[in-house]
Formats: sequence, C-alpha cells, structure tokens
Amino acid sequence: MHFQLNEEHLMIQRAARDFAINECLPGVIERDEQQKFAKDQIYKLAELGFMGMMVDTNYGGAGMDTISYVLAMEEISKVDASIAVCMSVNNSLVCWGLDNFGTEEQKKQYLTPLAQGRKNGELYIGAFLLSEPEAGSDATSQHTIAEDKGDYYLLNGTKNWITNGNSASVYLVMAQTDASSGSKGINTLIVKKNWPGVAVGAKENKLGIRGSDTHSIMFQDVRVPKSNRIGDDGFGFSFAMKTLSGGRIGIASQALGIASGAYERSLQYSKERKTFGKEIAQHQAIQFKLADMATRIEAARLLCLRSAWEKDHGRDFTLSSSMAKVFASETAMWVSTEAVQIHGGYGYVKEFHVERMMRDAKITQIYEGTSEVQRIVISRAILK
Ligand code: CAA
Repeated sequence: MHFQLNEEHLMIQRAARDFAINECLPGVIERDEQQKFAKDQIYKLAELGFMGMMVDTNYGGAGMDTISYVLAMEEISKVDASIAVCMSVNNSLVCWGLDNFGTEEQKKQYLTPLAQGRKNGELYIGAFLLSEPEAGSDATSQHTIAEDKGDYYLLNGTKNWITNGNSASVYLVMAQTDASSGSKGINTLIVKKNWPGVAVGAKENKLGIRGSDTHSIMFQDVRVPKSNRIGDDGFGFSFAMKTLSGGRIGIASQALGIASGAYERSLQYSKERKTFGKEIAQHQAIQFKLADMATRIEAARLLCLRSAWEKDHGRDFTLSSSMAKVFASETAMWVSTEAVQIHGGYGYVKEFHVERMMRDAKITQIYEGTSEVQRIVISRAILK
C-alpha cells in the first residue's frame, strides 16, 4: 500500500493550486455577491485540460486518472467552490457518462468539444438534468416525458436546480418513456440548448455557490432524434445512477476543498490574531478545534482518494463514493462553521472568506444525493 502521490499527481496538484490562486481568487467575493458565473476563468480551466480530465485524449480529454481529478477539485474548491461545481458536473456527470456509454458518433459530435470545454473559441460545457420539482431524492419519479414517436422522442417537462443551466450548450436529460416500467422506463437523451422548444428559466438566488449558474429548464414539444438516446431503451435510470456514483467523488472532493480552504485560513488567522496577550493559536480551545479540523479533513481526503483509486482500478465504487460524499460534506459543514467561530466577528464578514465557505458547504450535503440518500446507498450495500 502506497500513501504517496506520484510526480504526475504532484504536478497536477501544483497546476491546480496555482490556477486557483492566480485566476480564481481575484474577484471571488464579488462573483459571490453578484451571482456572477466565472466564464473567463472556466474557459482558461478548459485550456488547461481540467474540464475533461478523465476523457481519453482521442476524444479531446486530458487522459488523466480519477486521483488527479480529486486533487484538482480540492485545490479549485479551496478557493472558489462555484467554479469547482461547474468543473465537477462537466467532468463526472457529462463527459464521463458520454465517454463510457455514448456511441462513437455521440462521442465525436458531443464528447470531444465538451471534454475540451470549447468550440469555435467559445465555452462549451454540459449539464445533467435529473432533478424535477417532484423528483429530487425520489429520482425514479420522473414527470418529464419522452414520448416514442418512431425515429424521434417528443420531450415535454421541467427540470429544476440545474447546474450550468444557462451556460451549458448540451443537456443530458432523463425522461420517462414508459411509466408502467418504473425505473426501466426512463431514457437519457442528449439535447442541445438551442433546439426549438427548449427554454431556460430564471437564475436561482442561492444561499451558497452563488457564482454557479443554476436554472430550471423547460421542454415543450422538443424533437429529439433516437440517435441521441444514450444506451438501449430503458437504460436512462441506470445511466443516471452509475454516473452519479462518479459525480459523488467530485462533490466529495469539492467538500474536501471547502473544508481545507476554511482550515488553512483558520490556521493562518490563529497565528496572527492575539487575545489576552497571546496569539489565539496558543489557546487550547483553538488548538483543539484546529486538531479536530485537520483530523477530519485527512479522513475525508483518504475516503475520496480511496474511492478514486477503486474507480481507476475498475472496481465497484458505489459504496466508497457515497461514504466519501457523506463524510466529506459533513466535514465541510462542520469545519467551515468552526472556521467562522475561530475568526469571531471577522469570520462573519465577507472579506475573510470563511462565511462564504460555510454557505458553500451546505449544498454539498444536498446535491448529487443528500446525506440521507448516501446513507440509503451505504446501508443497502452493507446489509445485502
Ligand atoms: N448503478 C446501477 N444501477 C443502479 C444503481 C447504481 N448505482 N443504483 C440503483 N440502480 C438500479 C437498481 O438496481 C434498480 O434496478 P432493478 O429494478 O433492476 O433492481 C433501479 O436502479 C432502481 O433502483 P432502486 O430500487 O434502488 O431505486 P430507489 O427508488 O429506491 O432509489 C436512490 C434509490 C439511491 C434513493 C436513488 O433514487 C438516488 O440516488 N436518488 C438521489 C438522486 C440524486 O442524486 N440526485 C442528484 C441530482 S443531480 C445533481 O445534483 C447535479 C448537479 O447539478 C450538481
């Protein structure tokens, strides 16, 4: 067993760290306040190969492993979790799914520009459309309908809380074709945002990850060619679940990054701030908080890397990704709350960053499967 990153991993980690500090840190407070999507930064991230990290180079990807993805996600999330979720959705929910289950033609047409994150000099990213007003955790309860019309599907319905909703060019849409078949009646369709009948709703005004681009998306009589279905008829729900297992490694790494960012700021602040005649790092109350933060973060990191390793080695990573996600997201919430406490009054104002991290942390316990859903997945796996 090796607990050491190789040279290539260290290089990717350094590149992501440099990018986060040089490109993501400037303006992060303003983007959060104004809910501004970091289009320029994400374009540059794509130029670095970070929008299709695990995709084969033949399809425009960077051909890296999942360990590299975890490392890059942690570094970007330490600084700007909004940029990180855009990166995570494109990498794990869109590119990975197309790479593993798409046809050759779908890969050429859609995967290649999505993995490059660019087309004709413009940002080109994707979104994953599973959630609906009445289908969040209960994901089989799809009300979006894809009616089989022979050589095309007629798509009608509404999807909610879609990350990259307005900025994406390509949507992977889960929809019900045969309600009587339950989860086996669901298909995943590749839909372009600019097709007739596709409409983007208003931007959501969120508690955290305010720089990410979250919208509802409406479909009215959208004609989707059968050739844009991923996999066989009825594979859509299985596609969503398999893809989400990888997505959960991405969100776990995002949570890990938020926690590490909040911890690093707390460590630095506690060596500078003085109370009662000494640095607050000299008070045992603060030392114990820092010790607990560091310990929980290390445990979260090991769970993320373990799950990534399993995925890279072709093993079933459903259980480990849910464990990583539930633990890392709860760690992010706890660490960022303690970080605000360590900073005291300064922690409650925007300039010190940790209040944003606390707000950003919350969503990691909700999207790509709530903590409760992760516990369902874990308990089913250990009880079977
Ligand atoms: N891989 C492959 N197949 C799977 C699977 C997996 N990981 N998990 C379930 N399935 C299959 C099951 O085997 C089952 O098939 P059979 O009928 O042949 O046995 C079928 O799918 C239905 O599964 P369940 O009976 O387990 O379904 P359920 O209704 O009990 O729900 C659940 C299970 C785990 C709660 C699931 O609904 C779930 O994960 N819900 C959360 C959804 C979610 O994560 N949403 C996030 C939205 S995307 C997002 O947030 C992106 C973003 O923008 C950031």
